[in-house]
Amino acid sequence: MAKPSPYIYFLISLTTIVNLGSCHNLPENHAALFIFGDSLFDPGNNNYINTTTDYQANFIPYGDTFFKYPTGRFSDGRLIPDFIAQFAGLPIIPAYLKPGKQKFTDGVNFASGGAGALVESHQGFVVDLETQIKYFKRVEKSLRQELGDAEAKKLLSRAVYMFSVGGNDYLTKNSSVSDQEFASMVLGNLTVALEEIYKKGGRKFGFPNLIPLGCLPYMKAQSGGPCNDEVTAIAKLHNSRLPKTLNKLKKELQGFKYSLYNMYQSVNERLSNPSKYGFKNATAACCGSGPYGGVYSCGGKRGVTEYDLCDNPADFFFFDSYHPSEKVYRQFAELMWAGTTDIVRPYNLKTLFEDKASSTHHSDVGAEL
Ligand SMILES: *[C@@H]1O[C@H](CO)[C@@H](O)[C@H](O)[C@H]1NC(C)=O
Ligand SMILES: *[C@@H]1O[C@H](CO)[C@@H](O)[C@H](O)[C@H]1NC(C)=O
Ligand SMILES: *[C@@H]1O[C@H](CO)[C@@H](O)[C@H](O)[C@H]1NC(C)=O
Ligand SMILES: *[C@@H]1O[C@H](CO)[C@@H](O)[C@H](O)[C@H]1NC(C)=O
Repeated sequence: MAKPSPYIYFLISLTTIVNLGSCHNLPENHAALFIFGDSLFDPGNNNYINTTTDYQANFIPYGDTFFKYPTGRFSDGRLIPDFIAQFAGLPIIPAYLKPGKQKFTDGVNFASGGAGALVESHQGFVVDLETQIKYFKRVEKSLRQELGDAEAKKLLSRAVYMFSVGGNDYLTKNSSVSDQEFASMVLGNLTVALEEIYKKGGRKFGFPNLIPLGCLPYMKAQSGGPCNDEVTAIAKLHNSRLPKTLNKLKKELQGFKYSLYNMYQSVNERLSNPSKYGFKNATAACCGSGPYGGVYSCGGKRGVTEYDLCDNPADFFFFDSYHPSEKVYRQFAELMWAGTTDIVRPYNLKTLFEDKASSTHHSDVGAEL
């Protein structure tokens, strides 16, 4: 038998070194996904807390389009983070509170239906943002134990952190402070959460802004008209201030990068021209009862047992009185992922996921995108 040539030996030892070097390391281009916020992003965390069915969606017909069982997602199928994970080549990111041992190297989802940026919003029934951040810190600690400090830091700085938050604060606002002051509190608490993640190494953040809240079937049923402009006005105020808040953080925190998706505009475009986007009905909820399907009875487990369910959720913009259908979420996720600067800025999520500048040891002097 011929002896292997020195060249082969070289290749074998090179391969060995590379394998040894990487056996506890993640692939160079690996970017995890951590998710925070409310029902727009919750994959079922509220299944595992002591709350009421108002804050849960773990009963039929929720989940029926894609998962074929009610996962706890407030829609007929997947949510924005599920699609983003898919586009990023990650598995579906699980709920943090799901029992059993979890690995966190792909990220994890802390979002809780009904949560706001303020602890007062649905207090006692949801996992508030502060608690979500507390759980994130536990995950950070567990990653450091598993991977070592340097590798954990690298994972956290390459990861993308997505937030859907604010809607529940404005929908439950009952304090007498002005809208401006209230928005300052919401954005102030969001800022604190972002700073906490930054301190642990987080650099890349993704946000949808708020939808025209007054156009939710629930709000329309309450006010008995097309859209409640007063409620939408406060969402608009929040949306006008959010980019300023993020730019301030960008100035203060070296290496902080964000992607801000104009979900407000995407919703308006679809509500005013449903057929252009493949919807037959952008007025009423697919699942619910009363005018506009605005009674929050989808599933019949929230005090009202009777409810209507449409034949094809993909024909509808709204699945229930508060939440869009999976088809809407897919369109939104595609725009967040690969949209141009008319809808997502300054970067789309694809750019943030691919960015490696933040992963070097001198993360702060890395090349700008
Ligand atoms: C859950 O909440 C209900 C109502 O607030 C309370 O009576 C019950 O003791 C709580 N259960 C647990 C396990 O905390
Ligand atoms: C709304 O009012 C209730 C009852 O007075 C209070 O407990 C709650 O904290 C208030 N919510 C907000 C967001 O201020
Ligand atoms: C956070 O929200 C609380 C109310 O829950 C408010 O008192 C506090 O001022 C807010 N923090 C910031 C930094 O705005
Ligand atoms: C939308 O669906 C609701 C409930 O099924 C129905 O009452 C309404 O007429 C529909 N609107 C359009 C434009 O099809």
